[in-house]
Amino acid sequence: MPPRRRKPPEAGRVSLDGLLASKEIVVACGPGGVGKTTTAAAAAAMAAARIGGKVLVLTVDPARRLADALGLEGIGNTERRVPAEAFEAAGVKPMGELWAAMLDTKESWDALVRLHAPDARTRDEILSNPLYRNIAGRFVQSHDYIAMERLFEIHAEGKYDLIVVDTPPTRNALDFLDAPERMAEFFSSRLLRWLIIPYRSKIVNLASKPFYQVADRILGTQFLEDIAQFFILFQSMYSGFVERARAVHRLMADRRTSFIVVSTLEAVPLREAEFFAQALIDRRLHVGAIVLNKVLPAYLRDPQGAVVAERLRHRAAELAEALSPKVRGGDASQVQRVLAEIGQSYLDYRVVAQREAEQRSELATVPEALVSVPYFETDVYDLTGLLRLGQQLWST
Ligand SMILES: Nc1ncnc2c1ncn2[C@@H]1O[C@H](COP(=O)(O)OP(=O)(O)OP(=O)(O)O)[C@@H](O)[C@H]1O
Ligand SMILES: [Mg+2]
Repeated sequence: MPPRRRKPPEAGRVSLDGLLASKEIVVACGPGGVGKTTTAAAAAAMAAARIGGKVLVLTVDPARRLADALGLEGIGNTERRVPAEAFEAAGVKPMGELWAAMLDTKESWDALVRLHAPDARTRDEILSNPLYRNIAGRFVQSHDYIAMERLFEIHAEGKYDLIVVDTPPTRNALDFLDAPERMAEFFSSRLLRWLIIPYRSKIVNLASKPFYQVADRILGTQFLEDIAQFFILFQSMYSGFVERARAVHRLMADRRTSFIVVSTLEAVPLREAEFFAQALIDRRLHVGAIVLNKVLPAYLRDPQGAVVAERLRHRAAELAEALSPKVRGGDASQVQRVLAEIGQSYLDYRVVAQREAEQRSELATVPEALVSVPYFETDVYDLTGLLRLGQQLWST
């Protein structure tokens, strides 16, 4: 049976303010490069400005200029307050406080080891294990896992009224949801046991095993020992990890948590975003909103605009004659080419805008809030830009 379609609200835009006022955790997720980091930061900035309280945005790998604007350049995991003066410089008197932190995978792993290690000795051995030092933060999907883990930690501290979480660019948008469980599975996996059994058993003479003989020759005894020690030590943290993974999962499903799926209206990201929204719903997670970012402006679809563009294109020569004396620096033929090009570009954009509108009307999943954010002419890299974008997320 085809999915049931509700018509998305076209004119009266539904906004995010209600959602941000009623939830404690809002997770911005979606396909790569669509504006998750920007949306998360903009939503948090608006919540701090208009709703009040203490709002934290937990970002992942923000563009350098944005990190700078949030005061995050080169500071790793530390939470920093964005000064009220920065808001005032952007012409806004904030009701509350905006805090920002970046996700530093290596630092977060260290914190996790400190938390789960059964004793101080194991903790120090893990932290100083050369293999750990090299690979922590580079595990496949460790970024996803850490994002969820750190969110749990900060939420448990209870310092913030609202935490807006950005998610890492994953190959598959679902990866980060499964990360805690996968991490728990890894700790109980046969692969892990197989790797460390020879080192656990004192009776086995490693040198007698062909695999280890070869590995030893290639990698060196020290390296193999480091690996084994690393996994043995890590296994001592197994129950802590599993318990934690379950708690993280419960927090995601809690009614205080909601997900915002961010997408553009391009076909491929949109398909991925829809699949993702459905997957969240199937897991009984709350999809609070879909944010359609970088949308072309509605005026492009105005038929009258197309008429004007068509005329500009067809009558470019005639118009150029009249205009060229006023446009210094180019002769009539130059002005004609520019006018024709402008007319044609407008018509091309119009086609894209129409396609976008169709895509939007065909959305299969329409949550409580569906918000469109226009494509701004410049990147969004400072508080002024974030608040400008944030206004689009708000009811007017
Ligand atoms: N509405 C918009 N108009 C113009 N530029 C935008 C808009 N939204 C985001 N951008 C710009 O698009 C770029 C990508 O945005 P962003 O980093 O937020 O995407 P992302 O989904 O977090 O990417 P990734 O998946 O790589 O983490 C940034 O340079 C940002 O400034
Ligand atoms: Mg990002």
